[in-house]
Amino acid sequence: MEQYVIKGGIPLVGEVEIGGAKNAALAILSAAIMTDETVTIDNLPNVRDINVLLDAIREIGAQVQRVDAHTVKINGSFIRDFNVDNEFIRKIRASYYLIGAMLGKYKKAEVALPGGCNIGSRPIDLHMKGFRALGATVDIEHGMLIASAERLKGTHIYLDKVSVGATINIMMAASMAEGKTIIENAAKEPHVVDVANFLNSMGANIRGAGTDVIRIVGVEKLHKTEYSVIPDQIEAGTFMFAAAATKGDIMLKNVIPKHLEATTAKLLEIGCEVEEFDDAVRVVASKPLHHTQVTTLPYPGFPTDMQPQMAVVLGIATGTSTVTESIFENRFKYVDELTRMGANIKVESNIAIINGVDRYTGARVNAPDLRAGAALVIAGLAAEGITVVDDIYYIERGYEDFEHKLSSLGALIEKVSTEKEIKKFTLKVS
Ligand code: EPZ
Repeated sequence: MEQYVIKGGIPLVGEVEIGGAKNAALAILSAAIMTDETVTIDNLPNVRDINVLLDAIREIGAQVQRVDAHTVKINGSFIRDFNVDNEFIRKIRASYYLIGAMLGKYKKAEVALPGGCNIGSRPIDLHMKGFRALGATVDIEHGMLIASAERLKGTHIYLDKVSVGATINIMMAASMAEGKTIIENAAKEPHVVDVANFLNSMGANIRGAGTDVIRIVGVEKLHKTEYSVIPDQIEAGTFMFAAAATKGDIMLKNVIPKHLEATTAKLLEIGCEVEEFDDAVRVVASKPLHHTQVTTLPYPGFPTDMQPQMAVVLGIATGTSTVTESIFENRFKYVDELTRMGANIKVESNIAIINGVDRYTGARVNAPDLRAGAALVIAGLAAEGITVVDDIYYIERGYEDFEHKLSSLGALIEKVSTEKEIKKFTLKVS
């Protein structure tokens, strides 16, 4: 088991390059098997969830050629197996995108029911409702979701809840259905738009992605394309909050500032300066930070994936803040860990009431999930003394080279795997 060991208290200063969006890339890689021609995808983040998905795509028979760490060529013409199951794929949520992709192309799919970060109950009823509305039979048997159809027929689908995954999955299957599909109350996240753009570049006919009504006219075949994944707004936001927590000055390169608006608005509110450029954002935290209120909401609201990072910053801002989590019910598991670092946070139902403290003090903490893990690293970077973050497996699911990017900004952080290495680091930095 690996850990991050951090000596906190150093303002992060410098430039950092943001990678491709993990959650867009997971859907795009799945959609890439929907043509028999070769698709080239670049700006992929080189992170664990992406590599697990690529292995699964390879296992069902597709050709996957890694051109470099961030570029892959996929050819789906050799797929003969419609059953996706291995011990790793069961751990990633995005395996469900292979259902929409295979159902659209082959009219059948069997995929192990998704795992993913433990942030609350994560049903897939809306995905199933969408596939059924398109004419598929969908069942869950022995831990597998099994979907099949003679033919898929375009239809009108209303999503009872805004769901990124269901919107994308239905969009993929409907791209190769007969006739027109309308998805109402669709998710508007940047990665929904990115997947639609990708599918359109393969010859799909999708209009309205980025609004709450998406219209899709099915096509018989999709063709080859070359596509670059959008920058990761959550990785970017994480570094923006790291700048705030450490009183730093970070220039983030390769971002789309529009996608960061909710994060930017909250940073301005608490007293940071944020400067926007065409494809860069600079965050400067030179003044004391103050409290605010935040509620997570579907895009363009404040993202649930930024909630723990924001809470860590509010934990050392003056006054009382509240953070309301409205998307996932179990996304405050990091609070106990943060309390061990000196935070004063009380959780009541889905609201965290945060009384700002002067500083965090380093402690040994566990990363409970991907974003909360990143948030605890931010707390460690801001804290006095040494912090050890255990279970960084979670963080590596979604952050590429996290420790190196942070080191390049002046952070004292190392990835270690033994107690001896922790001691060595502690001696070196003290
Ligand atoms: C995606 O999960 C992301 N994962 C999550 O990122 C992210 O937190 C989430 O969207 C919200 O933005 C991937 O893209 C792989 P949802 P997803 O369907 O698609 C309910 C990260 O840290 N719902 O938009 O699973 C659900 O319970 C991860 O990178 C149903 O009720 O999220 C939730 O309350 C963690 N039935 C809400 O909708 C369904 O069938 C939104 O979930 C589907 C969802």
